[in-house]
Order: sequence, then structure tokens, then C-alpha cells
Amino acid sequence: MVCCQNTLNTVAYFTLTYIGYRISRGIYNIVYPYLLASPRNLHKLAGEATWAVVTGSTDGIGKEYAFELARKGFNILLISRTQTKLDSVKEEILKECKNIEVETIAYNFTNASLDDYKNKIISIIEKKDVGILVNNVGLASSNPEMLHKADMQESADIVVINMLPVTILTSAILPQMVKRNSGIIVNISSGASHLTVPQLAVYSSSKVYINHFCNTLRNGYAKSGITIQTLYPAYVSTNLSQVKVSLFALHPKAYAQSAIKTIGISEDTTGCIQHQIQAVVYSLPQQFMTYFAQKTLEKKQILLKLEREKAEKEQ
Ligand SMILES: NC(=O)c1ccc[n+]([C@@H]2O[C@H](COP(=O)([O-])OP(=O)(O)OC[C@H]3O[C@@H](n4cnc5c(N)ncnc54)[C@H](OP(=O)(O)O)[C@@H]3O)[C@@H](O)[C@H]2O)c1
Repeated sequence: MVCCQNTLNTVAYFTLTYIGYRISRGIYNIVYPYLLASPRNLHKLAGEATWAVVTGSTDGIGKEYAFELARKGFNILLISRTQTKLDSVKEEILKECKNIEVETIAYNFTNASLDDYKNKIISIIEKKDVGILVNNVGLASSNPEMLHKADMQESADIVVINMLPVTILTSAILPQMVKRNSGIIVNISSGASHLTVPQLAVYSSSKVYINHFCNTLRNGYAKSGITIQTLYPAYVSTNLSQVKVSLFALHPKAYAQSAIKTIGISEDTTGCIQHQIQAVVYSLPQQFMTYFAQKTLEKKQILLKLEREKAEKEQ
């Protein structure tokens, strides 16, 4: 009887200690990076290399990263799909940031050919001193469905766009960063990578790849002086998410400004305090959070359908 009581006490003790640890860690992850820490000098972390490369940089989060890094004095290499949009983002940046250079590469990341990567991107990157790489480009389904109903081509594109550029561009940039013993690589994952919402199976699985890729690289390059950050945004108001700005769904400019301040402070984080608070809730049991996320997704789909029907009627 006494032995049984002792075992129960020990289990209760470990359980309480574990819960205490999780709560303290959650609070620390909210308070330290977003309220206490001073932003690091990115030029120093980049080893004084002058170029920043941002993928998917003509809209949403990527465009705002490019702007923010330009404001900090980095030359910017924009890589995205549409040349006209690249030209107009370049013009916008140069209008505000006079003393930097901006170059563009139009590349459709559905193209998985390594030869094309080498000819169109890597050959250019290798000639520049790149201090920062932001692997931002990503694709999510415009109409999330269970896998048996999902558009197969779109699923294939999500896998290719979300996993290949991050892999190839990181491989291409590492040699010069290793040589310099410095550099910053920011890989944009998603809060969805922690959930098992069936309609997001392909998207969230592709983002799990990024999480594991970053963890493994951080392990391998721990002594290299290279900063490798994983970002897990929740909703940001962009074309991809189709959500309006709200307390928790930030404007991409506000999001990028906040996230950039965490470089060199948090190796994996959500990027802003609002999402970090949500992440603490996400650490609740998986089934509960998946149920909650699924209901939110269904509600969003109904609203989008109503908006589409309304727009069709008005035409
Ligand atoms: N928004 C969110 O709520 C949210 C949440 C979690 C994670 N994320 C992640 O954050 C990243 C950025 O998302 P976002 O919401 O800012 O997206 P977005 O507003 O849709 O912007 C996507 C950018 O990527 C470019 N792009 C798209 N497909 C491309 C392709 N095939 N080849 C080359 N460029 C392409 C787009 O260029 P075009 O303008 O030419 O299309 C655009 O510049 C993604 O990795 C996403 O998974 C976003």
C-alpha cells in the first residue's frame, strides 16, 4: 500500500514538474524575445556580407522582409515568379532606400530542374556576398480538401515549392557562409506544421520537413557561427491566407518587422507576440487543437464561399 502511495506521489511530482516546465517555457518564449531582448545587429550576424536574398518576395511576408532588410541597408536580391511584380517591388524599394542595390530573378519554383536552378539562380548568388537568405516562398491550397478530393497537381506543386527551394538555396548559400563563419538563414515554416488538420495534410507535412531540416542543420552547423532560424507564423493577412487583418492575423509589414527583430534571439519562434501566445495554446493536447483549427478552417471556407456567391450575384 505504502509502496503504491510512493509511486503515485512520484508520478504526481514528475507530472507537476513537467507542467511547470512547459508553462515557464511558454511564458519565457513570449516575454523574452518580444518584450525583453534587444534586436541583434544583423550586419554583424551576416558577417558584414552585403546582400540579402528573399524568395517569394513580390507579395505578403516575403515582400515585407525584403523591404525591412533594405531599410537596414542590405542590398536585396528578389526571387519570385512574375517579372512585372519584381520590377515594381524593386522600384518601390529603391524609391525608399536610395543607397542600396536591388536585383531580381524571375523563377517559377514549380520548376524542379537542378540545371535551371544552377543557371538562373545559383550562378548569380555565388557571385555575391550573401549574408542573409530568407526562404519564404510557399504555397497552400486555395481550396483545402481531404486528400482524395484535392487537386493532385496543386498537391504536387505544394510539395515542390515548399521543400525544394529551401533545400537547394540553403545548400547553395552554405559554402560561402561556412567560409565566412557567419550568416543568417531564415526558413519560413507554419504553425500548421504542428497540427494534423486532414484538409491541410500536404501543406502541413511539407512544413514539417522545414522544421526537421532546420533542427538538423542547427545541429550540424552549431559551431559555424551561422544563425539558422525556423519561423512558424499563424495567420498573417496575405493572398495565401485570405484572412483579414485582426488582432491575431497581422498585416505582413507588422509581422515582418516583428519577426526580423527575433533573428539571433530565438532559433525557432512564431515571429510575433500574438502568434507566440497562440503557440502556448497550441501546446495543448493535439486532438483539441486540431479540432479547433479544423472548425476555424471550415468557418473560413463557408465565409469565402458566401463572398464568392455574393460577388457572382453582383456581376
Ligand atoms: N500568410 C499566412 O497566414 C502564413 C501562415 C503560415 C505560414 N506562412 C508561410 O509564409 C510564407 C509566405 O506566405 P505569404 O502568405 O506571404 O504568401 P503570398 O502572399 O501568397 O506570397 C507568396 C509569394 O511567393 C511567390 N510565389 C508563389 N508561387 C510561386 C512560384 N511558383 N514561384 C515563384 N514564386 C512564387 C508569389 O509571387 P507572385 O506574386 O508572382 O504570385 C509571392 O511573391 C509561405 O511559406 C507560407 O507557407 C504564411
